[in-house]
Parts: sequence; C-alpha cells; structure tokens
Amino acid sequence: MNFLISLIALLFINTPVNSTTPNTPSIERTAPNRVEITIEGSDQMKFNLSEIKVKAGDTVVLTLKHTGKLPKTAMGHNWVLLQSGTDVKAFAMEAMKAKDNDYIPESDKIIAHTGLVGGGEETTVEFTAPGKGEYDFICSFPGHYALMNGKFIVE
Ligand code: CO
Repeated sequence: MNFLISLIALLFINTPVNSTTPNTPSIERTAPNRVEITIEGSDQMKFNLSEIKVKAGDTVVLTLKHTGKLPKTAMGHNWVLLQSGTDVKAFAMEAMKAKDNDYIPESDKIIAHTGLVGGGEETTVEFTAPGKGEYDFICSFPGHYALMNGKFIVE
C-alpha cells in the first residue's frame, strides 16, 4: 500500500506543471526568404532558445511569448537584437535607464526589438536579417540580460 502511494506521488511529481503549454522551440522557414520564429520567455527569467540561425537578407518574423503569469512591471520580457561587437553589459546599463520607453534606449546598437510583455502576452517584430555574422540577443528588462541572452547567427 505504501508502495502504491509512493508510486502515485512520484507520478504527480513527474507531471510537468505546464503540461498544456508545449515548450517547443520554433524556427520555421515558411518561404524561401522568410523565417518565422517563436521564442518563449518565462517567470524563471529564461528564454527557451539560446541560438537562432537565419540567412542574410531573410525576412524574420519573430514572436515573443511570455509563458509566465507575472506582470511586466515585475517580470517584463522583450527581445532585443544587437549589432555585432556591442558591449552587452554596457548596453544593458543604458537600457535600465530607459524605463519610460519600455527599456529600449536611444541607441545605434539595436538592429531590431519587440515590445515589452508580461505573463500571458505576446508581441511580434518583423525585420530583415543583417549580414553574415554573429549577433547577441537579450531581454533588456533590468537585470535580465545575464540569464536572458542568446546568439543570433546569420549564415
Ligand atoms: Co526579461
């Protein structure tokens, strides 16, 4: 009997809390020069993609989904693509001061960015992929860039 209870308890522990929300990273080429990307941000301050690969000149349609529950004032997420060679930490410090503009500073370092979303919200940006190279993307909400970052690779 105890064994059975343990087994049932174990099953419960192993059941994902968010079983209704598949956490599948999505990068899909929907036309020869068009890539549609869905990236998720969570209440755990994480993106579900650490690397995105596209081709130079692609039309990129990127949707950021906040899969958490916390409001954007506490756990806001955006997706900001930075020019190659940007000092990410210095940029993040600038972004912190741009609260009135959803943490998007006036900067020539930004290639593209989404809006800022809270739990349950999503936002989409469309842009043309820059030239071949490796670029950083981050969430520019204060304190998030260290955990919420990845590489945008243009081939
Ligand atoms: Co964030």
